[in-house]
Amino acid sequence: MSRPAIARIHLDHLRHNYRLLKSRSAKAKVMAVIKANAYGHEMFLVAPALLEEGCNSFAVTDASEGTELRSILGFYKKIQIVLLSGIFDAEDAELACQHQLTPNVTELRQIKLLQEAGFKGDVWIKIDSGMNRLGADKPKKLFEACHQAEINVCGLMSHLACADEPDHPMNRQQAERFNKLCDQIAPELPRSLLNSGGIISMPEYAFDVVRPGIALYGAEPVVERPIGLKPVMTLTGEIMQIRDISAGAPVSYGATFLAKQAMKIAVVGLGYADGVPRALSNHGQVFLNGCKQAIVGRVCMDYTMIDVTGTDAKPGDAVEFWGENILANDVASSLDTISYTLFTGVGERVRRKAVC
Ligand SMILES: Cc1ncc(COP(=O)(O)O)c(C=O)c1O
Repeated sequence: MSRPAIARIHLDHLRHNYRLLKSRSAKAKVMAVIKANAYGHEMFLVAPALLEEGCNSFAVTDASEGTELRSILGFYKKIQIVLLSGIFDAEDAELACQHQLTPNVTELRQIKLLQEAGFKGDVWIKIDSGMNRLGADKPKKLFEACHQAEINVCGLMSHLACADEPDHPMNRQQAERFNKLCDQIAPELPRSLLNSGGIISMPEYAFDVVRPGIALYGAEPVVERPIGLKPVMTLTGEIMQIRDISAGAPVSYGATFLAKQAMKIAVVGLGYADGVPRALSNHGQVFLNGCKQAIVGRVCMDYTMIDVTGTDAKPGDAVEFWGENILANDVASSLDTISYTLFTGVGERVRRKAVC
């Protein structure tokens, strides 16, 4: 048997989150963002569950992820697979043709590559509305180039820089800029602006398509405005050994933890190669048998040590690093990071197990 390093994927919670987001998005369609292996939740578990909920539009990063997703979902029901980063080369353009992928375009070069590959599908034009990340500066030029290349533009999208801060002035500035650009380029085309934070911060800009990612996986995107999302991933390891140590004894690499008194330490079989941030060393907490317990010493590649003094913890007990009892958002904020990095950092050797 392999190590019981498990990420339980609660598909019932995923479905709940999808329905909740849909209900908050007026008439907009949901394009589910499932790039980076569904933010570490395993695309082949997440995509079919969302499809069953009626979702038929998905966003991944590139042609390689798109090809994988197409093999999971098949070609039926006109499922749109959008490549948020577009295509990079001629091989990607071929893949887009073969697997009916819908690339974002941000550069004229991409339109040329698609044309040379004989692409007959749809593209989205991704516009920069102020974030200054990936997006077209001259979207009208791209729109005209698509028209000339007989490539159908199925919509215009942009992305918000500060959607998780509802009062940030950039939100409205970007939305208004995007709206104006859309009116100038092609008023009749579908528009898409909002990610998870945007759906909560500024639902009045839902337009035609919303693009939630993190909220689908149950992390509240706007911490001060929780909407009742349910955590989808529960990351657990198992206690392998219990050690009794005496006062003054060190724990783990670097002997950075020294016991102040006699203690009981549990060695848990989950470490940084599984996605437990090393920054949790001597800092974080886990959930065991109904209580929170402190992480002691440095997190190792395969192990994390926890203080179980005064408990009846035993080998074989499951230890939760995040999930329903310890929110990924709380772990992330204690490390000055975001839950996205925790989810996408869960290692390949952690088994994803669907809970329906
Ligand atoms: C273009 C685009 N749309 C939507 C999303 C989803 O964002 P979130 O996970 O914050 O909902 C992302 C994520 O990075 C993105 O890059």
